[in-house]
Amino acid sequence: MPVPAIIFPVDPLNPRRPDPHFAWEARLLRELGGEHHLVDHDALLTGRAPEAVRRVPRDSGPLWYRGWMLPSARYADFAAALTARGGNLLTSAPGYAAAHELPGWYGVFEGATPASAWIPSDGPVAPGPQELSAAVARIGGSGPAIVKDYVKSRKHEWHEACYVPELADLPAVGRVVRRFVELQGEFLAGGVVLRRYEEFEHADGAEGAGGSGGAEGAGGSRGSDGGKGDEPGAGGRAVEARVWWLDGRPILVGPHPDAPRRNVEPDLTEVRALVRRLGCRFVTTDLARRADGSGWRVVEVGDGQVSDLPRGIDPSGLLTSLITA
Ligand SMILES: Nc1ncnc2c1ncn2[C@@H]1O[C@H](COP(=O)(O)OP(=O)(O)O)[C@@H](O)[C@H]1O
Ligand SMILES: [Mg+2]
Repeated sequence: MPVPAIIFPVDPLNPRRPDPHFAWEARLLRELGGEHHLVDHDALLTGRAPEAVRRVPRDSGPLWYRGWMLPSARYADFAAALTARGGNLLTSAPGYAAAHELPGWYGVFEGATPASAWIPSDGPVAPGPQELSAAVARIGGSGPAIVKDYVKSRKHEWHEACYVPELADLPAVGRVVRRFVELQGEFLAGGVVLRRYEEFEHADGAEGAGGSGGAEGAGGSRGSDGGKGDEPGAGGRAVEARVWWLDGRPILVGPHPDAPRRNVEPDLTEVRALVRRLGCRFVTTDLARRADGSGWRVVEVGDGQVSDLPRGIDPSGLLTSLITA
């Protein structure tokens, strides 16, 4: 059986090398006996998928991607362009969308993750007051909440564009949502999501103070998940564990990219069953511990191909699992 290779984004300044952000993973992969290919991320983003994959050899067989986030539609183009060259991305386009976008995974994780409601949008247009009040009602109508889109929040603009102190204050909800949409601009993914705010244990052991600060890294302008642009002073951040799953098995349990030196050992019993039910081959789950000590909550699910790896942990096992999958 052919062994999967991994596709990394190419360095925009050197078409023979992986992007510097992924160079260490590519190097480690080579040391482990794996093979990598390169894709032009900018060409993918601008709808030129056949050109983006021209460095991937024809008939390359099974493939994983490790790279920057892609909108689900662009991932679908990527998968189709590889298929046309005789390659096969092991995460299908529907599988990518299911793990990458909150509405794709929420139904499976409901109850294990903060209650959420979403309002689809066609471009960067804020929802009107009626749509907002209906969404607020769907998550209980009162109490604090956070705002994000189907993929990312603006946690670094916590008070301005992320945290809603009181859902019953609809004008205030509208202000935070409008500012969020304005700042996301053309990068708004899917629509607006409202999630009930829950108190998680924070890095300093304190409870979440409803806005004591953001959380993981900004993801950088190219939108990997975390690892870039971390804000200083992690004191107010929820401690999260990032669990990497392949075919329903946890292949790496590590800290979140924003607090890479923290050791966390979440109980995976419940999450394992949910990941299996989701049915996507390679995903991550970000878990936070409830401030009252009553267990772990799923903050986010992500596609494993575009989740950032914290520096300082050894991903050899993860890469080996991928190339022997
Ligand atoms: N429902 C929630 N309750 C409390 N804190 C939350 C909630 N959702 C998100 N957060 C905090 O905000 C941060 C960013 O939210 P997240 O959903 O992970 O968005 P992003 O995709 O931008 O990382 C999380 O890491 C967590 O600290
Ligand atoms: Mg996150």
